Amino acid sequence: MRTKIIAGNWKMNKTFEEANGLINEIAKGIANKDFNNKEVVLCPPFLYSEMAADFADDYNFSVGVQNISQYPLGAYTGEISAEMVRSVGVQYAIIGHSERRSYFNETDDILSRKVDKALENDLTPIFCCGEHLDVRKGEKHFKVVGEQLAEGLFYLDKEDISRVVVAYEPVWAIGTGETATPEQAQEMHEFIRNQLSNKYGKNIASEVSILYGGSVKPSNAHELFIQPDIDGGLIGGASLKSKDFLQIVEAMNDE
Ligand code: 13P
Repeated sequence: MRTKIIAGNWKMNKTFEEANGLINEIAKGIANKDFNNKEVVLCPPFLYSEMAADFADDYNFSVGVQNISQYPLGAYTGEISAEMVRSVGVQYAIIGHSERRSYFNETDDILSRKVDKALENDLTPIFCCGEHLDVRKGEKHFKVVGEQLAEGLFYLDKEDISRVVVAYEPVWAIGTGETATPEQAQEMHEFIRNQLSNKYGKNIASEVSILYGGSVKPSNAHELFIQPDIDGGLIGGASLKSKDFLQIVEAMNDE
């Protein structure tokens, strides 16, 4: 049975004190909950990874980062490697977020090297894909997402693809308040699972968790999470408020 995951992507938000407070509130809010086959992942900025991982030791959540370098340890000024984040207790790495693709020119080739680095260091990649608005309007969304998967992930062998989480994040729904309808999201998630199945077989495809991201909030989380191919969410804005994030975790827990 595949794992259900709610991951909070804090992006570039919160001072140290605010981050400490938010992690504390979320940790206490989910303490003692029975998360059988379900996982909560907090992805604060790099700087707070160790602090978050210290909390995670005592509470039932995991810590992720929002990016890693495609390079190994060495002379790469300003970069943070997979080895480093693993050494402070991080377990997940978001790779290929649309903001990284757009603002930092991360190409499919770079992303595949980041996926390799994550897997080599025992980090679970949360590999993001998703189309821009003009692509959807031009009805090319399946083609574009199919290509992102083919280039960024489908060079992996069966064993490694089983260690990956996929996140579908339509760019037009990120931070806009406009969510994909449950039907639009389910349709794309089913497409992604079919692509996985065509490449790796039905059994492996049925084990890969596929998260939805893009304006998930307490009011729409439940209807998204009950879709058969949606295995949780990658939450941006609503992960910055403990009350909203905890309600979204509950929505996963209820369904
Ligand atoms: P929002 O939830 O703010 O739309 O952001 C989604 C996202 O980009 C998560 O990675």
